[in-house]
Amino acid sequence: MKIISIINLKGGVGKTVSAINIAYTLVAAHGKKVLLIDNDKQGNTSKFFDLHNDDDKSLADLLTDRECSIKSVIKLTTYEGLDIIPANMNLLRANKEILLDVSRPQQTRLRKALAQLNNEYDYCIIDNAPDINMTVINALVASDDVLVPIKVDKFAFDGLELLVDQIEDVKEFNDNIVFKGCFITMFQKNGVNVQGNEYLASSTSYPLFHTVIRKTVKVDETTFIGKPLLDYKKSTAGQDYEKLVKEYLEMC
Ligand SMILES: Nc1ncnc2c1ncn2[C@@H]1O[C@H](COP(=O)(O)OP(=O)(O)OP(=O)(O)O)[C@@H](O)[C@H]1O
Ligand SMILES: [Mg+2]
Repeated sequence: MKIISIINLKGGVGKTVSAINIAYTLVAAHGKKVLLIDNDKQGNTSKFFDLHNDDDKSLADLLTDRECSIKSVIKLTTYEGLDIIPANMNLLRANKEILLDVSRPQQTRLRKALAQLNNEYDYCIIDNAPDINMTVINALVASDDVLVPIKVDKFAFDGLELLVDQIEDVKEFNDNIVFKGCFITMFQKNGVNVQGNEYLASSTSYPLFHTVIRKTVKVDETTFIGKPLLDYKKSTAGQDYEKLVKEYLEMC
């Protein structure tokens, strides 16, 4: 099972939309079996699939309760081949509890839990919070690849260096981790976006996908309807996520 973290320390750049649509594209266009993990206390991925509940078992239990099996926190979506581990506000408590509990390793809990799955899934996609906390570090320690969605604005590149440093730090626990690349989300054909893309491609050393995800109102619509783009009306962003996944798979 290949484990991919979708991460950016900045909020609102399209992490959740990307995690959902990359996961679903792998299922619908490539016939893969995918486990999607919601690693954000906001629980947006869980809400999208109508699997958000503060009383249900969630990622928080998996990371703090020694007796909790990974199978007991996996929920089925209405899509065959796409399962999720939901998150809720308990993830806030989990972050504190992991730090306080030094009786077992703190950074490798998710990796160990995922290893119990014995390759039942082809891919695991982790939607991370815009933060570096213990559960995000757990995600990085578990990940083979890191993908970074970027929305071009004045602050777009803030935090990227910190994220790269964090990936380097995580190598102490996981030397397989690869920063596969950034990709532009909510792309509009205007000067700012074109220049932002060119800047990333030529003036930074960050790897960059050729594919950009175009901005379309259909993305907002899908968040109300709870359908990934490829199961909704034909859209530019849906085509772009298909292209992005293809570009990613060709790299591997
Ligand atoms: N390609 C797109 N076109 C138009 N709107 C988009 C696109 N991608 C994302 N959005 C919108 O941008 C907003 C932020 O997206 P999303 O929730 O995926 O970001 P995020 O990085 O996960 O945010 P957070 O850091 O809060 O978790 C949402 O309202 C979403 O519908
Ligand atoms: Mg999000």
